[in-house]
Order: sequence, then C-alpha cells, then structure tokens
Amino acid sequence: MNPTPVVIVTGASRGLGAAVARWLATSGAGVTLVARSEAKLTAVANDLARMDAKPLVCAMDVADYDACRRAVGHTMDCFGRIDALVNNAGIIQPVATIADTDPESWRRNLEVNLLGPFNMTRAALSHLREYQGRIVNVSSGAATLALEHLSAYCAAKAALNHFTRVLAAEETTLTAVTVRPGVVNTDMQSYLRGEGGAAMPAEQADYYRQLKENHQLEPPEIPARSIAWLALYAPQEFSGQFLNYDDYRISDAALKAFGSSLA
Ligand SMILES: NC(=O)c1ccc[n+]([C@@H]2O[C@H](COP(=O)([O-])OP(=O)(O)OC[C@H]3O[C@@H](n4cnc5c(N)ncnc54)[C@H](OP(=O)(O)O)[C@@H]3O)[C@@H](O)[C@H]2O)c1
Repeated sequence: MNPTPVVIVTGASRGLGAAVARWLATSGAGVTLVARSEAKLTAVANDLARMDAKPLVCAMDVADYDACRRAVGHTMDCFGRIDALVNNAGIIQPVATIADTDPESWRRNLEVNLLGPFNMTRAALSHLREYQGRIVNVSSGAATLALEHLSAYCAAKAALNHFTRVLAAEETTLTAVTVRPGVVNTDMQSYLRGEGGAAMPAEQADYYRQLKENHQLEPPEIPARSIAWLALYAPQEFSGQFLNYDDYRISDAALKAFGSSLA
C-alpha cells in the first residue's frame, strides 16, 4: 500500500487555497492548513473533517521564518512526512502608482508573496528531499504583464517565477513549478472591484468589474484541481516551468484523478 502523501497548503483559509485543500482531502492526502486567521482555518478544517480527513491547522504569517519552521515541525510531528508544499498565500495590495505608493505596504507585499514562499521552502526542504517532493508556487499572469498600479504584486510574482527556476536548478531531485491560476472568483478579485478599484483609473477598474459581470471568473475549484494535481503528481520534466492551470496536460489529468465535483 502506498503511504498517504502529506501536503502543506498556505493561504488555505479561503479562496483558491481552501479549494486546493478540499481536493487534496478528497484524494486522502494529509493536509496542513496555513493562514493567519485561525477561525477561518478551523472552519475549513471542519469541512475537511466531514470528508474523513484529519487536517492540521497552523495559524501563522508566512513572512515570519520562525513560524514557518514551527509549521513544518508540527506537520512532521502530526504526519511524519512532507511530500509537497503549495505556496499559495498572497496579497495584491498596494494598489497605487510607484510614484504614490506607500513604501511600507510595497515591502509588505514582497514579504508575503516572495519571502513567504522562500521561508516555507527553506523550512521544508530537507523533509521534501526525503521523498523527491514537489513545490507548487502559485503565481499570476501579473508575473509577465506590466499592470499599472500593481507594481509590487507584478514584481513579486515575476521574482517568484525566477526563484522557482533557481530552486529547480539547485534541487534536482525535487519538482518545483509555478502556476498561473487564471482569474478566479475570490476575495482578491472582489477587492479589485471595490476598494482596490477605487484607487485605479476608471478604465482599469472597469476591466475587473467586467470580468465578474461577463462571468469570466473561474470558480476556485477549477484552478485548485490543477494545483492539487501538480502537488501530488507533477512529473519531474515540469520542474522550473511556469505553467497554466488550463494546460490540457494538467487540467485533463486533474479531472481524471479527482473527478468533476468536490464532495
Ligand atoms: N484570484 C485571482 O484572480 C488570482 C489570479 C492570479 C493569481 N492569484 C494568486 O492565487 C493565490 C490565492 O489567491 P486568492 O485569490 O485565493 O486570494 P484570497 O481569497 O485573498 O486568499 C488569500 C489567502 O492567503 C492568506 N494569506 C494572506 N496573507 C498571508 C500571510 N501573511 N500569511 C499567511 N497567509 C496569508 C489569506 O488568509 P489570511 O488573511 O487569514 O492570512 C488567504 O487564505 C495568491 O497567491 C494570488 O496571488 C489569484
């Protein structure tokens, strides 16, 4: 019998990360749920428990390296192994031009979106090596697009992609990928239609409003299924690549592996 794989998912309290955790739980994986809000993580954990999973909740900030080390330690104590890490936690703020942006919030964006994945990777690496593990870094189209008013987010996601390439080059027994999840119906998009949109020129804010009005946002379950599949099954030849969630090699395999709907 194959041992149960164990996956740490950051940003698991809502949105994409919570949906990734649900797909992993339906497949029988052990899951560690990481985010700052303990109450929201507990609600997700209760949901997973209804699927017979026994998730571990770690309420913490991924920008804090010591907290990342503790989360890895708790995962080892609870499950005894780590097969994959999904670095999904992310923030979009600040929304402002470079000329007007608050330096502290610019720095905070990079702490969460770039330093966070480094911290979790660094803390989990020795355990991931034991089982030729996988690291899935959740990136964005913003990694390659010059989106005005979102310089910190664009820079952090571009750096995350390049960090992943270097990681793949150094850790040749692991599989490390980044993935673009598309535009997804989560709190991040509602922020861009609301408070975030108010800080943008009308035309740019309208683009985000129209994504919702024109039903162009993916439900989180769809890209989450691809991300869960990458965490469990991404082949080594993908290592270092920036992948699209709807690349048929991933989305078809994910549909086959997990089925069409979450329990
Ligand atoms: N939605 C989209 O259209 C879209 C498009 C491209 C890429 N993405 C990427 O997809 C990922 C998930 O985004 P989402 O749309 O699901 O956003 P979301 O609904 O805002 O969820 C973000 C998650 O990250 C957690 N988080 C934020 N800061 C954290 C910190 N310092 N430490 C630990 N956890 C933290 C949040 O929980 P707490 O607040 O409780 O900490 C939450 O669970 C992000 O990396 C985002 O950049 C999203």
